[in-house]
Amino acid sequence: MKTKLEELKNNALAEINNSAGLEDLQEIKIKYLGRKGELNSIKRGLKDLSDAEKPLIGALANEIAEEIEKTFEIKYADFYRKSVSKKLETEKLDITMPGDYKPYGSQHPLTSTINEIVYIFQGMGFSLVENQNSPEVETEYYNFDALNFPADHPAKDMQDTFYTVNAPNLILRSQTSNAQIREMEKKNPPLRVISPGRVYRSEAVSSRKNNLFHQVEGFMLDKNVTFGDLKGVLNEFTRQFFGQARPTRFRTSFFPFTEPSAEIDVQCIMCSGKGCRTCSGTGWLEILGAGMIDPNVLKGVNVDPEVYSGFAFGMGVERLAMLKYAINDIRLFFNNDVRFLEQF
Ligand code: DAH
Repeated sequence: MKTKLEELKNNALAEINNSAGLEDLQEIKIKYLGRKGELNSIKRGLKDLSDAEKPLIGALANEIAEEIEKTFEIKYADFYRKSVSKKLETEKLDITMPGDYKPYGSQHPLTSTINEIVYIFQGMGFSLVENQNSPEVETEYYNFDALNFPADHPAKDMQDTFYTVNAPNLILRSQTSNAQIREMEKKNPPLRVISPGRVYRSEAVSSRKNNLFHQVEGFMLDKNVTFGDLKGVLNEFTRQFFGQARPTRFRTSFFPFTEPSAEIDVQCIMCSGKGCRTCSGTGWLEILGAGMIDPNVLKGVNVDPEVYSGFAFGMGVERLAMLKYAINDIRLFFNNDVRFLEQF
């Protein structure tokens, strides 16, 4: 048994010293010292030895195991050192190499414009309407009737409004003004509300018109609210939005749900004179409609027009963004061309 052990030791040491690398080395260790390895299989014969021999041979087996282990460790450390220095030599870090360009995503210009508008009005005490009070799929009642549109108003025509096949009176809203009615139905004055969202109109698409666009609706309802308050709020809005006092003009107009009504224009910033495609040569761009809430609308939601008065306004988000960023075609907002979007 002693010779067997000596033989094992010599084989093991020779294999370790001739091993090719770290993996090879691990295998050799398992082969000799592992639980099912060669040393253990020899040691299993110990039980057949005489009592005098057992401790001697046992001690020898342990000594051999230790020696193999030690040789293994030395060789292992040697391989390890070599592999590290090889790595250090080959994997050089060149800090002068150009970086790996990762383009940043950014907010869509319509999203950031809406956020900016909402932020300005929030600064003046307006609060954002709850989503459920501003649905995009709406009944004719909230989109038209409750807003004092007569039954035969041309805007209700199929050519202007998208009707659905789901129910006869279910439409895609053509304006965000529905939020006014839904809010006033649910809440009592005083109210100061702002409500952004998508609206839909059945129109020929052009550089100025799209079937889908965005509006921000707002209104204020309280005792003693006047047209002067409306002017003050909207002038302050344009001042903040355009970053300077930009000329505006209040033009008399008509909306079924306001009396008196006005359209507010802001001076065209891309104006190329007579042939200007943005403002059709007028020098002005309409950005919003507004007015004092019609007494009929207030009565419809059980608000006494003798006690309360209010103003309302609705603005086109695309219009405002086009002015602010000098964009001459509304379709650019919807084409998802990164060359356009990445400028924002
Ligand atoms: N809803 C109108 C439109 O889409 C805009 C508007 C005008 C909203 C006057 C208002 C308002 O709240 O008072 O053209």
